[in-house]
Amino acid sequence: MNQMQSPSDQPRRPVLVLFAHPALQKSRVNSKLIDGLDQIPGVTFHDLYEAYPDLCIDVRAEQELLETHDVVIFQHPFYWYSTPSILKEWQDLVLEHGWAYGSTGNALRGKTLLSVVSTGGKESAYHPDGYNRHTVRQLLAPIEQTAHLCGMTFLAPFVAHATLRIPTDVLAVHTSDYHRLVIALRDDQVDLEKAAARDRSFINQDLNDVIRGEIR
Ligand SMILES: Cc1cc2nc3c(=O)[nH]c(=O)nc-3n(C[C@H](O)[C@H](O)[C@H](O)COP(=O)(O)O)c2cc1C
Repeated sequence: MNQMQSPSDQPRRPVLVLFAHPALQKSRVNSKLIDGLDQIPGVTFHDLYEAYPDLCIDVRAEQELLETHDVVIFQHPFYWYSTPSILKEWQDLVLEHGWAYGSTGNALRGKTLLSVVSTGGKESAYHPDGYNRHTVRQLLAPIEQTAHLCGMTFLAPFVAHATLRIPTDVLAVHTSDYHRLVIALRDDQVDLEKAAARDRSFINQDLNDVIRGEIR
């Protein structure tokens, strides 16, 4: 993996990964996706279930973390077409009126939000004509709209589909693609307009189209 930092050695856009998996010991996909993420300079990996086993979220500490990062990643398995519960609790408590939104709520303005999701369902099931009748991105509409309300740019999600049957080599490709995307986001090498385009169902359908410069 290329863990090169920007020339100044300061990450251009520090990345905060908010990770939510209530049974990480049983995880095959997310445990692989996060392997080595915390070793990438400029990336803060924050495991919410580990930090808050009693689900009592420290709101001010979370807000301070957000204030010092430009790119926020929600990474989780898809549970009932949504997030595991701690991430909903996190949103309910941390995204306060007057801080995240409202006339004086500008703390998140200009930041970027990426959802990284693993689904049991296969790619063809997440289609208007498929079993789940919606794309993953459509089902993430509450998060996309929350980002919009807070003045953040919501990118098309990074999705690992069909996790029950995912071959090891495909999982390895997802992991290297994910880490490459994180590094490109940190180094401001992602065309955010393209990556956020409403007709893009998931970002990893063509990473070369959204990552620019030598990191491609
Ligand atoms: C409570 C629960 C709800 C789930 N809901 C969905 C769902 O709505 N859609 C889906 O595709 N998979 C669903 N799954 C499957 C998980 O998304 C899948 O097991 C997970 O992404 C695998 O990742 P892991 O190996 O990191 O645990 C659900 C699993 C559980 C336990």
